[in-house]
Amino acid sequence: MATEERTYNFSAGPATIPVQVLEQIQQELLNFNGCGASIMEISHRSAQFIEVLDSARAGIKQLLGIDDSHEVLFLQGGSRLQFSMIPMNLLRDENDRAAYIVSGTWSSKAFEEAKGTGNIDLAWSGKDSNFNTLPASTDLALADDPAFLYYASNETIHGVQFQEDFHIASTPLVCDASSDFLSRPIKMEQHGIVYACAQKNAGPSGVTIIVIRKDLLTRSQASLPGYLNYKTHVEQNSMFNTPPTFGIYVVDLICKWLINEMGGLAQIADYNNDKATLLYDIIDQCDDMFIGHAEKQFRSKMNVTFNLPSEELTSQFLEQAAKQGLTSLKGHRSVGGVRASIYNAMPHEGVVALRDFMKSFYTQNS
Ligand SMILES: Cc1ncc(COP(=O)(O)O)c(C=O)c1O
Repeated sequence: MATEERTYNFSAGPATIPVQVLEQIQQELLNFNGCGASIMEISHRSAQFIEVLDSARAGIKQLLGIDDSHEVLFLQGGSRLQFSMIPMNLLRDENDRAAYIVSGTWSSKAFEEAKGTGNIDLAWSGKDSNFNTLPASTDLALADDPAFLYYASNETIHGVQFQEDFHIASTPLVCDASSDFLSRPIKMEQHGIVYACAQKNAGPSGVTIIVIRKDLLTRSQASLPGYLNYKTHVEQNSMFNTPPTFGIYVVDLICKWLINEMGGLAQIADYNNDKATLLYDIIDQCDDMFIGHAEKQFRSKMNVTFNLPSEELTSQFLEQAAKQGLTSLKGHRSVGGVRASIYNAMPHEGVVALRDFMKSFYTQNS
């Protein structure tokens, strides 16, 4: 049940965090690990913080099933900074080219921003169908030997999600996994970089996790400014500048929650599939009221997007839902409608409550 104290919060990000994790933060806030101060008040070079940093890195590696082949970095600047950092570091010289799949708002922004850094080709665009569908690898227009192929595994605003990883022989994939990171297993061996801002599935805003294959670090030119060079961050153990210590601490707690409470990525993927099915079933059963945006085979398990037949019904839906403790369901301002973000930390009961509300709204209004 949503309670007076806590609603079921369907925010797209910053998003809901597991209650157990919030309780642990609360418990440790005044005195972290016996050190007489909070995690926010101790040096990033202290033994206590280094332990947290190492543990967060180990947790991510364990969850993703990677070892020494990849580095894990904790940076600032959000996912947005990665839009320029990636091509600045991965293009091999000024004649090199990279390929981008544009499948929604976020990959469009990444594509536009990357163009300012070098030669960027459009491999595929879903703009003509208002980003409700995704390509197969055979649909892509690729030049010979691109430096990398960029895609967003889940488009947070449009609610489309790649259901399987691509495999393009010999081209490193670069994945913006901001809104489905740690929500399911991912084939890391096919990826050069997987990155995500934390504020959806992995922690609070302010920390971005970059997982980069080690061999790609040789591409980062010494002429790049320090913060913009991945090699700097690897050499400095994510402490080139003062890292976002509180955010990294929460990422560590969330990794532990995923491993110890939820059983890892295969298990959380099943949990997430079940939750998404509850909502898509009701969308399909009541399709004269709830008009799903994404083509069925590309429906996101994280951001369920749909429209109602009129603005008036949409407002009523959002208002009545909020009264029942189902909050932050408004679609992104650029597309409207409704968006239910059901990341890892959204409990099954929260999605059942939303499904039941949708059923009764349908009965009352159709
Ligand atoms: C898929 C995706 N990429 C990138 C971003 C941008 O993230 P940030 O605001 O941390 O820069 C977002 C934010 O919602 C996102 O959903």
